[in-house]
Amino acid sequence: MKRCAVLISGGGSNMMTLVGDMTGDHPARPVLVLSNRPDAGGLAKAAALGIPTAVVDHRDFPKDREAFEAELNAVLERGDPDIICLAGFMRVLTPVFVDRWAGRILNIHPSLLPKYPGLNTHARAIQAGDKEAGCSVHEVTDVLDGGPILGQARVPILEGDTSETLAARVLIEEHRLYPAVLRRFAEGDRRPIVLSTAAESPIN
Ligand code: GAR
Repeated sequence: MKRCAVLISGGGSNMMTLVGDMTGDHPARPVLVLSNRPDAGGLAKAAALGIPTAVVDHRDFPKDREAFEAELNAVLERGDPDIICLAGFMRVLTPVFVDRWAGRILNIHPSLLPKYPGLNTHARAIQAGDKEAGCSVHEVTDVLDGGPILGQARVPILEGDTSETLAARVLIEEHRLYPAVLRRFAEGDRRPIVLSTAAESPIN
């Protein structure tokens, strides 16, 4: 059984779909939900499910990313995870952290990578006149939002969409995509998947 830690910064809706899926015959179990913000709504939701939670507040380490990550590492090491899922975790991780957990960190990003790494993805897609948007789950490497893509789901951009309406439509797909990718990843299957509205299908 793989041990999975989930890192969050906010409401944790993706975290909830991941931990909700990690039951029964799932090859992983949640061992820790960790937030860099003490007020992250997801912490209480995880605790209510009996999942151990922890906070490493980045504001306790002003201008010292190294010290923040050293503490993050110390807490994570106690959870001894095989897989770390970033789920709305809004801190950039340095190569030192990424190398420590190389090949074990996944992230969900609200764009069809390689388009729109970074922030404000939906506004940028609308602004560019794109006809579709979506989300990607990828392995985390030293390149921001640039690691190998493990799965994507697409949604149309509709006339009159705002970044809020588009974000809400993409989030529904995030909740389908991330658990599907995690399940396969925990089984050792890193072939990327594309979710269609009907069913998921391997690319190769
Ligand atoms: C999600 O839309 C996720 O893709 C995004 O933050 C949201 C978190 O929502 N992540 C990023 O933008 C990472 N750069 P949640 O807390 O409800 O899962």
